[in-house]
Amino acid sequence: TVYPSQSDASIHVANRIASLIKEKQANGEKAVLGLATGATPVKVYQELVRQHKEEGLSFQNVVTFNLDEYFPMQPTADQSYVTFMKKNLFDLIDIPAENINIPDGTIDINQVQAYCEAYEQKISALGGLDIQLLGIGRTGHIGFNEPGSAPNSGTRLVTLDDLTRRDASRGFGGKEYVPTKAITMGVGTIFKAKEIVLMAWNENKAEIVKKAVEGEMSPEIPATYLQLSNNVEFILDEGAASLL
Ligand code: GLP
Repeated sequence: TVYPSQSDASIHVANRIASLIKEKQANGEKAVLGLATGATPVKVYQELVRQHKEEGLSFQNVVTFNLDEYFPMQPTADQSYVTFMKKNLFDLIDIPAENINIPDGTIDINQVQAYCEAYEQKISALGGLDIQLLGIGRTGHIGFNEPGSAPNSGTRLVTLDDLTRRDASRGFGGKEYVPTKAITMGVGTIFKAKEIVLMAWNENKAEIVKKAVEGEMSPEIPATYLQLSNNVEFILDEGAASLL
């Protein structure tokens, strides 16, 4: 779906999440959200915060799982996805702290595999993700599933692509300070979500969006795997859709 602007599109996505939360609330159930970081979802979070403050939207029944985190990464560091999520959403709403799940960038390397399996199981135990938000990196990654990722991959430790580290370098004051690894939900983890929403804005995403939507499916561009899913929607502004 192509929207005239990033704001219109973000409000649409926020409304969809808000409806899901209210519907689950009415049934006494939990809404299980898969969340993303990066610049792309910021306006969705802003709109959810606005609805919390102005319309009383409550997050008491919401459980969240973030897609990824750099490794190693201290949660208190400026560049951590924990800091990002607190600043853009969690510190501004009434979600119970114990309902928030973000991969732990401080885990001992020998424990990472078991930790990732437990992350995966925690999602399943709650009945799976009701909705997964995604951005897209210029390598075609979703979460941090870089080129070469398998379609059935689970949550795991990955090595970041050079282009991804270059794109992240501004926040770190130079590429050499960007961690070389990350923990990410797998493509298979994302696929298990009941609904997947990939958002992309501006012309600089147009080329990768075209490849993801119209290109041949290939491990070289993990976002092309989304072509296999029948519950995925790409939500774009006119810039990101300009080459389709
Ligand atoms: C990072 C994140 C991805 C995100 C991508 C795009 O690599 N791990 O989840 O989709 O960046 O970032 P942005 O939304 O800032 O363009």
